[in-house]
Amino acid sequence: MKRLLVIGDGQLGLMLAEAASRLGLRMDRLSPEEGLLFHGTGRQAAKLPEDWRAADYDILTAEREHLPANALMARLAEHPGFKAHGAIATLADRRTQKALLDRLQIPTADWCVVESQADIERLARASGGPVVVKAAQGGYDGRGQWRVDATSAAAAPAALYGRLIAERSVRFSRELSLVGARAADGRCVFYPLVENRHIEGMLRYTVAPARAARSAQQRAAQMLQQIMEELRYVGVMTVELFEEEGELLVNELAPRVHNSGHWSQDGATLDQFELHLRALCGLPMPSPRAERQTAMINLVGCDFDPGWLAVPQARLHWYGKEPRAGRKLGHLNLPAPTRRALSARLAALAPLLDREHALAVQEASEGLQPPDEQACRAARQCGEIVQGGLHPVPG
Ligand SMILES: Nc1ncnc2c1ncn2[C@@H]1O[C@H](COP(=O)(O)OP(=O)(O)O)[C@@H](O)[C@H]1O
Ligand SMILES: [Mg+2]
Repeated sequence: MKRLLVIGDGQLGLMLAEAASRLGLRMDRLSPEEGLLFHGTGRQAAKLPEDWRAADYDILTAEREHLPANALMARLAEHPGFKAHGAIATLADRRTQKALLDRLQIPTADWCVVESQADIERLARASGGPVVVKAAQGGYDGRGQWRVDATSAAAAPAALYGRLIAERSVRFSRELSLVGARAADGRCVFYPLVENRHIEGMLRYTVAPARAARSAQQRAAQMLQQIMEELRYVGVMTVELFEEEGELLVNELAPRVHNSGHWSQDGATLDQFELHLRALCGLPMPSPRAERQTAMINLVGCDFDPGWLAVPQARLHWYGKEPRAGRKLGHLNLPAPTRRALSARLAALAPLLDREHALAVQEASEGLQPPDEQACRAARQCGEIVQGGLHPVPG
């Protein structure tokens, strides 16, 4: 039986360990900052024993790209079974990640390294609008980002100059993502594109599959495959995308399982956690398919509520973390046979949630309605609809 170690002690590592246990693989989880070990899916951490050896594991993987620069990590990086370490290091820094995309001629928002305020001002002028300044390392869930324009460029933290990038602010019509996997023999498989809604930089819900043309799926898969091949990557990787005027732009890459892939636990033939393990262990990797329409709703900063379970089809994944404002504490997967049925199930779920989550779920529900019904509702909200059709707003 292969022994695996996942670096990171968050929910992604826990769900990887759950998938490993299903496959009869042994996987432990490691907090690299504190040197704490969690056995399998256990919740009890133990200090690394004196005689602990990373060499006892066959394969190392990581649930996050931001890894500490300490002695323990330096040792783990040398492990011959930690094949993705180089790729993770490249993608963990937005400067090297964006440079990789440019080198591969994969479209991404215009960007620059910020050495001084003048760099931000130059990009803002060149792109004719606001820019998003991002910490090169360590940001997640929208943290470490500042939205500025040429007149407010000073709002970006000067102490971080040299370790920031600035990007044109993309006026996207929607955000999509693609999760895929590459096996050691180079074979790649992909989930369908999904649609993601972020609020203040944090993912709130995903609808899978996204309504997308086959050409968009092919284009996204081609970009992700090109990146995985370039990095000789093995495992699951995710590309976050902006759709702008019908074109796909890469927002960012994550060399790991991803929040926007959680729907696959209850809506696909194979979930992303198991897919990652299959790729790492050289197990069969059939192309994953969506079996139904699924919404994934992140549960952020709220207490556990058994009332959520009153919706028969809702599948709760609760991480057992300490509740804190703005913290991802769990997710609900809601599958349905059709988009219309999913819309109705979301509408039934909304009243069971607190106001913030209910608004998001209501929005997801409305977004799944056919476009003509959405137009009617929008018109009705404006007090516009009159019998016989839609009339233009006066003035
Ligand atoms: N250049 C940009 N233009 C417009 N919106 C952006 C841009 N960059 C980020 N965002 C918004 O902020 C969210 C989080 O940014 P992202 O770069 O993905 O960082 P994180 O690592 O925190 O996920 C994105 O999903 C998107 O909604
Ligand atoms: Mg992101």
